[in-house]
Amino acid sequence: MQLSKDWIKDLIIYQIYPRSFCDSNGDGIGDLPGILSKLYHLSNLGVNALWLSPVYRSPNDDNGYDISGYQEIMEEFGSMEDWDRLRDACRERGIRIIMDMVVNHSSDEHPWFTESRSSRDNPKSEYYIWRDPVDGHEPNNWASCFGGSAWEFVPERGQYYFHYFSKKQPDLNWACPELREEIYSMMNWWVAKGVEGFRVDAISYLDKPQDFPDSKLSPRPDGYSFPDCLSCRPGTHDHIREMNRRVYSSGNVMTVGEVSAPTVEELANYVRTEREEFDMAIPFVPPIEEINTWSPEKLKHDAWESYRIMPEEGWWARFLSNHDKPRQVSLYGDDGEYWEASAKLLAMFIHTLPGTPFIYQGEEIGMTNVSFPSFEDYDDPSTRDQYHQYILSGMDPSKALSLVRLESRDNARTPMQWDSSENAGFTTGKPWLKVNQNALKINVAAQRQDPHSIYSCYKNLIALRKTCPALSRGNLCFLDTGCPELIGLTRSYEGKGLLVFLNFSKDGHTIPSGLLENIGAVLMSSYDREGGYQGENLRPYEAVIFKMKD
Ligand code: GLC
Ligand code: CA
Repeated sequence: MQLSKDWIKDLIIYQIYPRSFCDSNGDGIGDLPGILSKLYHLSNLGVNALWLSPVYRSPNDDNGYDISGYQEIMEEFGSMEDWDRLRDACRERGIRIIMDMVVNHSSDEHPWFTESRSSRDNPKSEYYIWRDPVDGHEPNNWASCFGGSAWEFVPERGQYYFHYFSKKQPDLNWACPELREEIYSMMNWWVAKGVEGFRVDAISYLDKPQDFPDSKLSPRPDGYSFPDCLSCRPGTHDHIREMNRRVYSSGNVMTVGEVSAPTVEELANYVRTEREEFDMAIPFVPPIEEINTWSPEKLKHDAWESYRIMPEEGWWARFLSNHDKPRQVSLYGDDGEYWEASAKLLAMFIHTLPGTPFIYQGEEIGMTNVSFPSFEDYDDPSTRDQYHQYILSGMDPSKALSLVRLESRDNARTPMQWDSSENAGFTTGKPWLKVNQNALKINVAAQRQDPHSIYSCYKNLIALRKTCPALSRGNLCFLDTGCPELIGLTRSYEGKGLLVFLNFSKDGHTIPSGLLENIGAVLMSSYDREGGYQGENLRPYEAVIFKMKD
């Protein structure tokens, strides 16, 4: 079956983490008017869709991923009128708005929860997941993602509620039909307001095993174990299909689910067109795991597997960065000597794969990880939890700090670096999270006019995609280069094609001559500042895109 929404193949999505993008009023917190004032940046790049991380009312236990009012705007970010203005301005610029929708859980300050927790027999009693104590303790041994038990006791009910994330993020009870109706009508309200897509948060945990068996995974240092039976539940897929029928199928709404998928088959289950769940999926991999397991070979393998399993009947989200990951140039590239070439190489990799490219704010200028001097400088709840787990396991505090520096989600959340003025032009006040000190060198203003900057590389890639059906529609084939660090691939469509080589290493590598027989003109090079492609002996992090001979 062919994908019916063909337009999604032409999307280039830019993710904004509003708290860190641009502050318009000097309170140190990014906001909607700030985004509005920088929309030209998105247009200049050429992107045509904006994924807005949550801007709903929230007490900010998890920076907006804990929603206390789904049809309201967070006060710090502005008003609903500001949101309407942003929508209108996006429309004028041909940018579709994709809202981040968090419906696995709400905030504990949502009125639904306030009511639900008040007694066992109120009308919202079943909106959350309540269980009696077992032998005076939590119902099972499950750990919350952000530390401690996944259960919290409420004296008014004499019961525990379940929270997969922090205790301020109680899980919504998807087994309750009235709750599901509330969610669908709320999402439809946003569709009626002009939202053209949803990125649906943490969506693979909706269905819960009603008997909540103990997890058999080994305990974390604090004694609790991560659940071992929350992913891949058929009931979750049923809920997603119902959401699709009730919310997206009637309109022209694009969807991307953030999913935990242990296998490529399970990933495909969320996006195969005939299953009518999502248009694309963002697989979630914990940063620690990613840091410890990634390699160029694995990147290539994962890209191929996700492609091979559904070359026709589904579509892919392609990304290396988001607000939950360390910065891509620090993780997969080199943020020292080869900063510029490696940042361009990573861009050239993502933008030449089949699927929709996602750009996370700051990636387009090569923003890097941050190294805060003290643990106290970190804000992210999962960073704080991870640090405490290290300390509980007996690790030396300086070692624990050096590890969380690599893993922290705050690496991606430091303020956007606009220029070399104080606080990188992000705010005139005190930023909620410290600015990366390298803002003097790495900022938008320094790169905008420079034809050889990382920013210009992104701009050129986006422009190339728009004029080259081989990139947006073509088949993928990986080439055998004989070297795991040298990735070679082709994209072809109706007899026309591109050939791409990417040297993912600090060493030189040579393209086997047999692979160069069909090359035509050089379209892009990560060494454009140095004069471009100079032959098959590729330099560290050299990447090149050739046109194939017709
Ligand atoms: C998703 C979000 C992440 C958040 C979590 C809980 O993984 O991307 O930022 O902490 O869900 O909502
Ligand atoms: Ca502000």
